[in-house]
Amino acid sequence: MICFFRYTQSMKVLFLQKEKFMFSRIKGAADNFFDMPTWSSVIRKIEAHIKQYNFSQIDIPLLEHVALFERGLGFETDVVSKQMFLIQPKNNETSSSELMCLRPEATAGTMRAFLELQSKIHVPFNVFCYGPMFRYERPQKGRLRQFHQFNLECIGATSILYDAQFIAMLHLLFSQTLSMKQVVLKLNFLGTTDDRKAFQKSFVDYLQNQKNNLCETCQVRLNANPLRILDCKSESCKALCKNAPTLSTFFSNQSLQEWNLLQTTLKELSVPFELDPSLVRGLDYYNKTVFEFVSTALGAQNAFCGGGRYDGLAEQLGSKNHIPALGCAIGLERLMMILQEENINLNIEKQPLICIIPIEPEQNNFALRIATILIKEQAQSQVQVLFDGAKMKHKMKQANDLAATWVILLGDQEEKNNQATIKNMITGDQKTVSIEALKAIIGH
Ligand code: HAM
Repeated sequence: MICFFRYTQSMKVLFLQKEKFMFSRIKGAADNFFDMPTWSSVIRKIEAHIKQYNFSQIDIPLLEHVALFERGLGFETDVVSKQMFLIQPKNNETSSSELMCLRPEATAGTMRAFLELQSKIHVPFNVFCYGPMFRYERPQKGRLRQFHQFNLECIGATSILYDAQFIAMLHLLFSQTLSMKQVVLKLNFLGTTDDRKAFQKSFVDYLQNQKNNLCETCQVRLNANPLRILDCKSESCKALCKNAPTLSTFFSNQSLQEWNLLQTTLKELSVPFELDPSLVRGLDYYNKTVFEFVSTALGAQNAFCGGGRYDGLAEQLGSKNHIPALGCAIGLERLMMILQEENINLNIEKQPLICIIPIEPEQNNFALRIATILIKEQAQSQVQVLFDGAKMKHKMKQANDLAATWVILLGDQEEKNNQATIKNMITGDQKTVSIEALKAIIGH
């Protein structure tokens, strides 16, 4: 776990002693500027798609108690045991029960919020949020320390048909709304806690005799979290798992029925999927359905959306009631990489830019008045006044570099006659017109 250092007086002195230096961003965090139009468009498209399924937005804090994730996700998970960013408030001693962290994911926080708000809301509670998550991982392509998820949860949903519709909704989102081609849905069923207990006993017994052939991590997992051994990437562990008892042979009748119903319903809804018995997901709250959407357009980090059912989480977080739920999170950076790799154009329309150029400083206020009129009366364009630079030539170059569609030139004659000279930067046409006529030209 990572602790933020206290910002002590001695560190402050050290900083001040240094010569002026350029700050660079923190490793594993990204500045997003050039992709922002696509980013916003993707978010708008996802929102529009899921709102058809009655999802509402929730905003939950970036800061949560560490204990929420310890109890929700499990002490032994990589996220909790290795990847949490803990927060130490300045000049404040914090007791361990109050210890805070930056959220590594949004499911535990959404369930906490649901439990606090539940007297005022109805189930099924279909809810989404998006924003940054924080995990201390080794940064690489598709793996950041501050990354963004679009998170969807359906809380208070018992029938396995909710899982089928949820997965079908995601399939349509990726294949139709976002036109992605190289997507594969991997699906598995983890059964109930009782099913897994029975399986775990026989699985551990089988592996115990061959413990030395397991990788070091899995030797620890054997006691702490044996199910995770199933998705270990080491060849020796994979070989051992091949001949191990399988989870599905321990399913109760009801689990078997649900697992079959999920598969047949997905087939009826024309959702293609691949069964993946090694898919167990890295967070301990899952039971029954688990799934991942992977893309062949990505490299090693090819899962861009993962989720499943987590019927026990509410009780793990202190609820007296059993509240079945399911959900998923889409990794937005990975989704953006896929759109780029697959050359998917989201038809982002940029509003035309109007640059207003006061020819002399005397016309600066006139330029501001014209800008205000245009902004108030038409919403189709963006307006920017260019104040800096003594020469017209310099300002015209600036307008050109900013890719302006229109340039409005304001000299003393224009001000005296309450007119403007407007230049179409695409055709080069230029004319002097009244302010009324100017509004009409730009409005079209
Ligand atoms: P997760 O599989 O840990 O699940 O994360 C979901 C997605 O977030 C991943 O498939 C990936 O695209 C993205 N992601 C995760 N870690 C990183 C990283 N370090 N850098 C970039 N992208 C990353 C969850 O977080 C669950 N809370 C999902 C869920 C919601 N299950 C039920 N409801």
